[in-house]
Amino acid sequence: MNSATTHLRTAESFLIQQDWSVYTPEQHAVWAELVSRRMPQLEEHACAEYLDGFQQIGLREDSIPNLAEVNKRLGSRTGWNATPVSGFLPPDAFFEMLAARQFPTTTWLRKREALEYTPEPDIFHDVFGHVPMHAHPIFADFLQEYGRVCAGLMHDKDKLERMGRLFWFTVEFGVIRQKGAIKLYGSGLISSHGESTHVIHHGPEIRDFNLDAVLNQEFLVSEMQKVLYAVDSFDQIFDAAKEAERRLT
Ligand SMILES: [Fe+2]
Repeated sequence: MNSATTHLRTAESFLIQQDWSVYTPEQHAVWAELVSRRMPQLEEHACAEYLDGFQQIGLREDSIPNLAEVNKRLGSRTGWNATPVSGFLPPDAFFEMLAARQFPTTTWLRKREALEYTPEPDIFHDVFGHVPMHAHPIFADFLQEYGRVCAGLMHDKDKLERMGRLFWFTVEFGVIRQKGAIKLYGSGLISSHGESTHVIHHGPEIRDFNLDAVLNQEFLVSEMQKVLYAVDSFDQIFDAAKEAERRLT
């Protein structure tokens, strides 16, 4: 365990090591296939900060990321760490990690037969989808703040559910207006060709980001999204996390 993870208490039992040497050539080939299928669309439709982050943290098309190498680059930029975990974390452990600038990261990779969809996150969703945004200073601060606020709401299921919607409509399915166009930054969009294509083809209604609306917006995990909320800058989601704390605590 590295020094960055020693102060976690609740999450500690979920931490694992990534043994990068055991990935097979087939697994690296699946990663390469996944990245090469997503990149043409993302070069046109992902936000500038995602594409910049992808380069900054040194992700490659030809091999599964070695998290130790990613973290050297990421840590020196924003202090975030993609921390290997065994799978889904209970909420208190998840929020504890976010508040400590550690992103719980799975290390397994989907098989070739399931390129487009996995019911649980894998390293493609977690690292390709999420981690590039953690190189952006304001998004990085937002995500830590989000975790800190949620960690303080563990006693209140209803408030946590509302905060879960803020996560869903930003971190997972967030879009941003850039140069007059809707660009993608949420991991559920970045890592899914089907969800992204749905947005690009004007499937969901795109509303202006509004904290009250987001906290009240129900969603279904199992269906294509019908409503998304667009920000004009990432300052808006950082401010939203702060405002949510004022309203809910
Ligand atoms: Fe995710």
